[in-house]
Amino acid sequence: MTIISDDNSFEYKTPERKNKNIEAQVNEFDKSFENNIRPKSFDDYIGQSALKGNLKISIEAAKKRGQVLDHLLFYGPPGLGKTTLAGVIAAEMNSDIKITSAPALERPRDIIGILMSLKGGEVLFIDEIHRLNKIAEEILYPAMEDFFLDMTTGKAQSVKTLRIPVPKFTLIGATTKAGALSGPLRDRFGIIHRLEFYTTEELCSVVKRTAKILDFQIKEEGAKAIAKRSRGTPRIANRLVKRVADYALVKSNGIITEEIANQALDVLKIDNQGLDTTDRALLKLIIDKYDGGPVGLETIAAALGEDSRTIEDVYEPYLLQEGLIQRTPRGRKVSPQGYRHLGFKPPIEQQTLF
Ligand code: ADE
Repeated sequence: MTIISDDNSFEYKTPERKNKNIEAQVNEFDKSFENNIRPKSFDDYIGQSALKGNLKISIEAAKKRGQVLDHLLFYGPPGLGKTTLAGVIAAEMNSDIKITSAPALERPRDIIGILMSLKGGEVLFIDEIHRLNKIAEEILYPAMEDFFLDMTTGKAQSVKTLRIPVPKFTLIGATTKAGALSGPLRDRFGIIHRLEFYTTEELCSVVKRTAKILDFQIKEEGAKAIAKRSRGTPRIANRLVKRVADYALVKSNGIITEEIANQALDVLKIDNQGLDTTDRALLKLIIDKYDGGPVGLETIAAALGEDSRTIEDVYEPYLLQEGLIQRTPRGRKVSPQGYRHLGFKPPIEQQTLF
């Protein structure tokens, strides 16, 4: 699989449909860490088994009918492999994929340009699709539904509407916030799926696979130690493998054992539940300054010096999943488990609730 890039979009080329010019530009990208280790088929893609099972059926049915796959929407926290899965789907459909993100589609001509550039059967991946502006959305609707662009020419009384065909394509939208998508846009996706956090066993397989591709020596227990602290997220697991391998090489004989992995992760200040310094600072802030909450998101963000969107999209989902914080109508609260995780005793009134 190869990738080209310009300022706001890039595309995978599946091995069946190589293009030499594109390949020359792409080799640099191919060398990059993420792309090297990205799975290229369902067989290589670990986890999300229910979703994979459904997708395999939809893909086979689309192939049997000789049609494009329905538009798909993936939602869930960042780092769970939405882009990777889109690449796998394109490869399984023997098609190419163009990858962009909603903030890169600011002007009407951005979205029109990308739609007009598609080849029949191609996959268009739009990341952060909840950030698409109204005009871009309205251009997209007829393209998604009937594979047409409705364009207007002329002014005032002489205005004319033209329907310009676009090649049949599959849109794959990805979002961390399904609720922020407009109803009409959401309704135009035939398949909507949530990506789940990975289990420790699944992450252990991801870690071993990555170590093998990168030629790092790793013991089963070393892989498990990394998996346990990767907060259910393959992107984090892959990042940690690299960091731990560096540590193993400098401080030991290069082999990632359980002991070396734990030492390296301690140095990185990632605790036994995968929480990093910001996660712990967030919990501690709510406990120390706001009596355990509830406290509003904006207040937390300002006190931590972080963007509220980063807190909401990146930090909170895992803390919620682990039951360390709770969302209430009046803001965020630290749960008794959250108190205990930091070594504090939960307040009396919370102790009986759990
Ligand atoms: N790397 C990132 N996500 C992956 C996955 N789901 N399977 C295998 N390798 C991955």
